[in-house]
Amino acid sequence: MSPEVRRAAEILARGGLVAFPTETVYGLGANALDGRAVAKVFAAKERPHLNPLIVHVPSLAEAEKYAVVNETARMLAQAFWPGPLSLVLDKRPSSGIADLVSAGLDTIALRVPAHPVAQALLEAAKLPIAAPSANRSSRISPTTAAHVEAELDDRPAMILDGGPCPIGIESTVIAVLAGTAALLRPGAVTREAIEHVLGAPLAAATANHRGASPGQLETHYAPATALRLFATSVGPDEVLLAFGGEVPTGARATINLSTSGNLEQAAARLFGALRELDRSGATSIAVMPIPAQGLGEAINDRLQRAANRG
Ligand code: TXA
Ligand code: MG
Repeated sequence: MSPEVRRAAEILARGGLVAFPTETVYGLGANALDGRAVAKVFAAKERPHLNPLIVHVPSLAEAEKYAVVNETARMLAQAFWPGPLSLVLDKRPSSGIADLVSAGLDTIALRVPAHPVAQALLEAAKLPIAAPSANRSSRISPTTAAHVEAELDDRPAMILDGGPCPIGIESTVIAVLAGTAALLRPGAVTREAIEHVLGAPLAAATANHRGASPGQLETHYAPATALRLFATSVGPDEVLLAFGGEVPTGARATINLSTSGNLEQAAARLFGALRELDRSGATSIAVMPIPAQGLGEAINDRLQRAANRG
């Protein structure tokens, strides 16, 4: 075990915060059993306390300590763990997980990350790690250690640097309650892949699946600069977030998410590109249309939220 991972595990055990890489985005981690440690996560992110956190565990067997894994959930876990899928399940009353983690709900979101650094940290800490994305609430999720440093005024005790996150967009969140699987957040595992395993379409999320307060879910991935979606041309003071081989000219700056139209590549570049274009000083970021299927569903979800600034 590397000395950094050992030190990070010690910090978690003492109730401190550690930012760490996952295959999706960087997380801001705390010991999920320690309510005071979890409270520090909400404070560092300025996150509303009604928005629950995902708990990271090393395996399906560990997940069963904290939640009731029903048959549908087991099928999904076996297909996609370790990997970028979070399952919202009924929490065991004896779980020991701090109430603040689930914002007082009787459910808990669990995920087994695939990133080797995240796995090493879970193995060293021997604790369930509550970790939201390591950005300030409502902002763009970090996909590098430098993004984490730029995001949080209140630095975590340690940032484990695992390089850029390979997938670059957050996990898919599925609620599997009372036998039905509902999509709460499109993400890195595509709807198509999940429905293939289920052998049935995913249900639409109801307030029941989301918990008491759908309005409290993190709704923005907002750069300071306005976004203009489905752009097919560029205005005089705009920068362009492009996709594919045929790109309009005239932008002050252009970042192409994937010249070959590859959605995996586009997802991996999305948040970094938004950060960079946000620094350009343009009046708006024109965003070309991106196909809606596969990973495109999650990419379009994040772009829509970034564009809908309150
Ligand atoms: O890829 C990811 O999922 C990253 C990495 C760090 O694992 N984490 C992440 O966490 O994106 P966060 O906190 O930014 O998003 C967690 C999402 C939120 O939309 C939250 O409302 C939902 O999961 N969630 C967590 N617990 C829930 C619960 N018990 N019921 C319903 N939704 C829940
Ligand atoms: Mg987040």
